[in-house]
Amino acid sequence: MDAQKKAAAIIRLLSQDSAKAADRYHASSDETRQQVLGSLDQRGLTALTRLLKEAKKKKFDSAQNRFLRLAKDTIETPVYLLDETLIEENMKILRYVKDRTDCKIFHALKSYASFATFPVMAGYLDGTCASGLHEAMLGRKEFKKEVHTFSAAYRPAEIKSIVKYSDSVIFNSFYQLRQYGELAIKGGCEIGLRVNPGYAEVETDMYNPCAPYSRLGIVHSLFKKEFSEHQGVVDGLHFHAMCQQNSDVLEKILASFEKLYGKYIQGLKWVNFGGGHHITRDDYNLELLIKLINDFKKRYGVQVFLEPGEASILYAGVLISSVLDIVENRAEVAIMDTSAEAHMPDVLLMPYRPEILNSGKKNEKRYCYRLAGPSCLAGDVIGDYSFDRPLRRGDRLVFTDMALYSIVKNTTFNGINLPDIAVIRDGGKIEVVKIFGYRDYRNRQS
Ligand SMILES: Cc1ncc(COP(=O)(O)O)c(C=O)c1O
Repeated sequence: MDAQKKAAAIIRLLSQDSAKAADRYHASSDETRQQVLGSLDQRGLTALTRLLKEAKKKKFDSAQNRFLRLAKDTIETPVYLLDETLIEENMKILRYVKDRTDCKIFHALKSYASFATFPVMAGYLDGTCASGLHEAMLGRKEFKKEVHTFSAAYRPAEIKSIVKYSDSVIFNSFYQLRQYGELAIKGGCEIGLRVNPGYAEVETDMYNPCAPYSRLGIVHSLFKKEFSEHQGVVDGLHFHAMCQQNSDVLEKILASFEKLYGKYIQGLKWVNFGGGHHITRDDYNLELLIKLINDFKKRYGVQVFLEPGEASILYAGVLISSVLDIVENRAEVAIMDTSAEAHMPDVLLMPYRPEILNSGKKNEKRYCYRLAGPSCLAGDVIGDYSFDRPLRRGDRLVFTDMALYSIVKNTTFNGINLPDIAVIRDGGKIEVVKIFGYRDYRNRQS
């Protein structure tokens, strides 16, 4: 069947509101998908978006039981269990954004760098964005596609290698551009400047790149003084101002960004909208994102880049942990074989309370526990939870959404071993891709 016929079959399914339209769309060639999109009006496109989102949600909902079943099996704990099929579901949604906008999407390695799943991800995305030399190397060597590097400041000893492994180098100040711009251009890299877009809605300053005194991005008052001197060598502008947010926030950031920097965009090749877009979350407004990108491209004639991290991996991995002991002090405290401090650092930093499958909030169910880590840190507390039946030593709990900003940030504090990393491959086979031990702890000490 040629692309046109395949597209017509998908559109027929779509007109019947059949969930099969989503699977067929994702399984089609680039040409067929473009045929489908080209044949639909805005109503049809919106209907397709809804079906794609519903199909994805169904796959994630049914995965919960699989995680629970696997947790009861013989898998060693603690373990980060990554579901490659769910990562692929996220990838399909990201590719759909690319299909509709022709933007480029780079996975942010800072959020997740478990290269055991890169082959699947690389089938959908354009490459990776890196925060420095090691991520740039990993992106090039393991993801094997484009690499775009931004660092708040580059180290003289590393810049040559960064240029070697990057397609673009994004500078955070005119000083850094003057120092290293020529080297980057000679090395074949495009040049970007990160700017402060002047607007953000991130409540926690720890995660707000536009908070007062932020070092991240050139502020407009400095940008306008010096940009004209460098205009000829700059290929693109970059901003990053979001954290786990929806496209309505992007709309407001873009309004501010365009007001401040719009007149400098003409003649550039690209604008990078950074990360923090929770594109694969159920309530994310995809249609608005698509409209914002398409309108922006029409206004300025530039390529748009996105570099989400969380969206790639959202809800696609869990941390399975066992109860080691239960002690009493005013409440029952379950000591787990995983640590908030060492294995889920954002729980303490953000702070937030991770979800556990089949559990409730404090006092919501009959049996209440404070869950805590095995370290000596008094504050190594994961949170308060309740369950339908009493916890026992040896019970296993499944912490959801634990693949992002955990494996990349975890530590061996107290000499506590790092959780294993395992991947559920397509077909359900579990592959334990990494087991850590004493050597890993020792190698990081002097
Ligand atoms: C410059 C930059 N790009 C992309 C990202 C990825 O953001 P997220 O994982 O929230 O999508 C971050 C996160 O801090 C960032 O600082």
